[in-house]
Amino acid sequence: MHYLGIIGGSGLTRLEALEIERRELVSTPFGAPSAPMQFGRLNELPVAFLPRHGGNHQVPPHKVNYRANIWAFKEAGVERIVGMAAVGGISANMGPGTLCVADQVIDYTYDRKHTFYEQDLKRVIHADFTEPYCEALRQQLLAAAGRIGESVVGKGTYGATQGPRLESAAEIRRLARDGCDIVGMTGMPEAALARELELCYANFSLVVNWAAGLGEGGPITMQEIESYLGEGMARAIRVIAALEHE
Ligand code: HPA
Repeated sequence: MHYLGIIGGSGLTRLEALEIERRELVSTPFGAPSAPMQFGRLNELPVAFLPRHGGNHQVPPHKVNYRANIWAFKEAGVERIVGMAAVGGISANMGPGTLCVADQVIDYTYDRKHTFYEQDLKRVIHADFTEPYCEALRQQLLAAAGRIGESVVGKGTYGATQGPRLESAAEIRRLARDGCDIVGMTGMPEAALARELELCYANFSLVVNWAAGLGEGGPITMQEIESYLGEGMARAIRVIAALEHE
C-alpha cells in the first residue's frame, strides 16, 4: 500500500476529511518540514498530508523549506504527490472558482533553495524537466474528476512568482505574453525538487482571483480570495478522494 502525498496550500492547512492515524515530524538533512506529516485515510484512500505553510499558516511562500518538505515525502515512502495551490487566473478560461491540473510551468522565483544537487557531487546532474509534471498522476486526477462529474481544466501553464506580494498589472501582462495561464507563488521549486527525487508530482490549482489588472479593476482583496477558497478546496478534495488506490 502506498500513501498518496498531498501538499496543502492556502485554504488547505487542515484536511478536515482526513481520518488521522498518526503524525510524524520527519527530520531531513535540509532541516524541518513545514509541519508534522499527517498519515491517515481520506475516504478509503491512504494519504500523507503536509500543510505547505505550516499548521497555522505561518510560513510565507518564499520561506517554505521546499527541500525538507519534498525530502520528507520521499523518506516516508510516498511516490505520488499532489501539490495543491491557490492561484490567480490570467487566461480567459481561468476565472475564479476554476480548478486546473497544470501541464507546464515557468519559474520566476529567485533566492530559493531549488536543488538537492549542491554539495558532495560526484558528477553534475541535470534533471529532465521537459514535462514538469507527472503525466500519469495528471491523468489520474482528470479521470477522478470525470468520475464525480467535477469540471477541471486539464492543461495550463503555471507562472511561479516570488511573492509574498501580488504582482503588478504589467508583470501579469508579461506573464500572459510568456504564455502563463495561472499565477501562484509556491509551484516552484517544489515541482523541480520532486523531479530530482524521481517522485511523481502533479499540480492541482484552484483559481481564487483574477490576476492583477484583469478583474473589474481595483486591488485584489483577501475577502475576494477567501470567498473562493473554502468551497473550491472542498471540490478539489472530493476529486482527490476519488483517485484510485495504488
Ligand atoms: N498571484 C500570485 N499568487 C496568487 C494569486 C495571484 O494573483 N492569487 C493566489 N495566489
